[in-house]
Amino acid sequence: MKEAQQKHLWWQESVIYQIYPRSFQDSNGDGVGDLRGIISRLNYLQWLGIDAIWISPIYPSPMADFGYDISDYTGVHPLFGTLDDFDELLQEVHARGMKLILDLVPNHTSDQHPWFLESRSSRDNPKRDWYLWYDAKEDGSVPNNWLSVFGGSAWEWDEKTQQYYYHAFLKEQPDLNWRNPEVQQAMLDVMRFWLDKGVDGFRVDVMWHMIKDKQLRDNPPNPNYTPNMATYEQLVPAYSTDQPEVHQIVRMMRQVLDSYHERMMIGEIYLPIDKLMTYYGTDNSGAHLPFNFLLLSLPWDAAQIASTIGQYEGALPTGGWPNWVLGNHDQPRITSRVGKSQARVAAMLLLTLRGTPTIYYGDEIGMRDVAIPPEEVQDPQGLNMPDLYLSRDPSRTPMQWNDQANGGFSESKPWLRLPDNYRRLNVQAQEQDPYSMLSLYRKLLKLRHEEPALNIGTYVPVPPEGQVLSFIRQHESQRFLIVLNLSHRPVFFKPRNLSCRGRIAIATYPEREGEAFNNSTSLAGDEGLVIRLEEA
Ligand code: NOJ
Repeated sequence: MKEAQQKHLWWQESVIYQIYPRSFQDSNGDGVGDLRGIISRLNYLQWLGIDAIWISPIYPSPMADFGYDISDYTGVHPLFGTLDDFDELLQEVHARGMKLILDLVPNHTSDQHPWFLESRSSRDNPKRDWYLWYDAKEDGSVPNNWLSVFGGSAWEWDEKTQQYYYHAFLKEQPDLNWRNPEVQQAMLDVMRFWLDKGVDGFRVDVMWHMIKDKQLRDNPPNPNYTPNMATYEQLVPAYSTDQPEVHQIVRMMRQVLDSYHERMMIGEIYLPIDKLMTYYGTDNSGAHLPFNFLLLSLPWDAAQIASTIGQYEGALPTGGWPNWVLGNHDQPRITSRVGKSQARVAAMLLLTLRGTPTIYYGDEIGMRDVAIPPEEVQDPQGLNMPDLYLSRDPSRTPMQWNDQANGGFSESKPWLRLPDNYRRLNVQAQEQDPYSMLSLYRKLLKLRHEEPALNIGTYVPVPPEGQVLSFIRQHESQRFLIVLNLSHRPVFFKPRNLSCRGRIAIATYPEREGEAFNNSTSLAGDEGLVIRLEEA
């Protein structure tokens, strides 16, 4: 078969794990996670079955947006450690046969970055054109109606030089002018700096924002806007994002990666399927994995998820590799979204779908969003729009390692609080418990690695029945049937137009593992099964 002849690259066969470094492990007792902390937990990740680690930004930064406002692209923030610590981390990751993916934030810098300090110093500074400076309209108002994702206008007035600059996020995060070849070269050099060190790839922040309309046309109003949405949603960002020229930039980045051996690029892109696909680039000259965030926003409904998986699979360009995500540092946690029992079904979905899965740290133990009292809120998105509950702090809380003080995360008060129940809900409590979420993740990862059908096999949908989502993964003569009850109610499952027998390999209620399957079965509420089918 075609699949068998194809060589798969490491990132196609990998399971990626996202670490939010502030919250993973503190090694020096300042309440903030760091690189040495990550090093001390690599054995855990290896034990779990992780192949590649993506770490959110670790660079020097004033931390206005917790590291997504970078003031030096080739350094390490002292909070996280030193470049030597980084080199050791990379070496230790590689020594375990794992890969390391860094976060690259090319769309904007910090307003404290030397490039911006120069740029804003005078209108004739050579770096003036590195950012997006524009005159006020005749009446002194902003150049157009573009809004900041974090609230308010996207334009900030500079008193000294009497112009506005554009910032898609905070005013402390001015957007770079990616039409300027010097900017392009500077950022490609940043990539080379880390690639020369041996990093295996980048997750590129807000890839679809990088180029904006040259004519600065106003964004049209969003007909679906309601007042409970962020102010940014008032407009459709038709001219401030996803411009055709962005693909040339992505291709340039890809060319840098391709000049090294097997390095890869994930693009952070929140767009509908058809537009998302364009980021693979013509003839796969773009991102290796444009992040697929479909499962983050779809209603938890079997028919809708099945149909969307089908649309996504069908829209992939030739040679385009799929990927799936259940959570990240910007989104509510899956356990809080669908509940504790259903989160097990979600894990089974994530780790049996075709394509590279990315696991958000802590999801493997069923960590929940943690309620943060108003006076402790730190995320600027939450602080700027307090009434809309948009703070991302709840899903960024410290990893719950054990039942010791601060969950084993830190010897001091952590930068964000842990939930009251961490003494029961933690890695140590789940490691030896065969019924735990952690054991389920570990089993799913192990089977995915052992079975090419689950790893690189084809995806064959089984028509959804009620709230049961089902599909087959197949490689050569090996087949697995995945059956997921997305509801809390028991259901009887008998696939139409399909006759098959097999044995349950993994069940969300592990008592059933090993049970024979003979073309039909009953499922408890929140039950999911991975069934190894007999050869036809
Ligand atoms: C996307 C990142 O994931 C998010 O955390 C950040 O606030 C924005 N980009 C701005 O960099």
